[in-house]
Amino acid sequence: MKGVFSMDIVERVLITEEEIQNRIKELAAQINKDYEGKEVLLLCILKGGMMFLADLSKHLTIPVAMDFIGISSYGNATQSSGVVRITKDLEESIEGKHVLIIEDIIDSGLTLSYLINNLAIRKPASIKICTLLDKQINREVDIPVDYVGFTVPNEFLVGYGLDYQEFYRNIPYVFVLKPKYYTE
Ligand code: PRP
Repeated sequence: MKGVFSMDIVERVLITEEEIQNRIKELAAQINKDYEGKEVLLLCILKGGMMFLADLSKHLTIPVAMDFIGISSYGNATQSSGVVRITKDLEESIEGKHVLIIEDIIDSGLTLSYLINNLAIRKPASIKICTLLDKQINREVDIPVDYVGFTVPNEFLVGYGLDYQEFYRNIPYVFVLKPKYYTE
């Protein structure tokens, strides 16, 4: 059956569940401090950002609202195509709000570059970016990233929101996919 998880697809575990959860608590503490006295709109980028949003938000003590935007740049390919499209737009206006974008991973930066330009037109009070993973080495456009969980190497990463052919987003840690699965 397709999508059944087994360690056969794992080259190695890159970030354990415990490491992710510990880092999330640190990030949340910093966000609580930075946004003290403010309301924040957590803007989750679907689909990958949902795990991170769920875990991070549990540790936030500031008032938070949540909204979701679907942006896709990859389809089922393994490389960024540079083609970005909105698959689901926000439900509420962000005018005058402090927007904190929640991402699982930043790679080329093309997705966020597009999104920030798109959101800026809607007149938010501020926009900041929080990503669990940063594949900095692949950056093609410069974008300001305010909160980073982990800087990661240029490998095919799966788990904790990141998929391989839409599966394995539910795995609670981040692993490197065995190269044979994307070179075949
Ligand atoms: C991934 C990730 C980011 C984007 C990063 O999403 O969640 O949104 O790619 O790549 P970039 O910096 O090169 O633009 P993807 O398009 O795979 O969608 P998904 O989260 O629904 O899997």
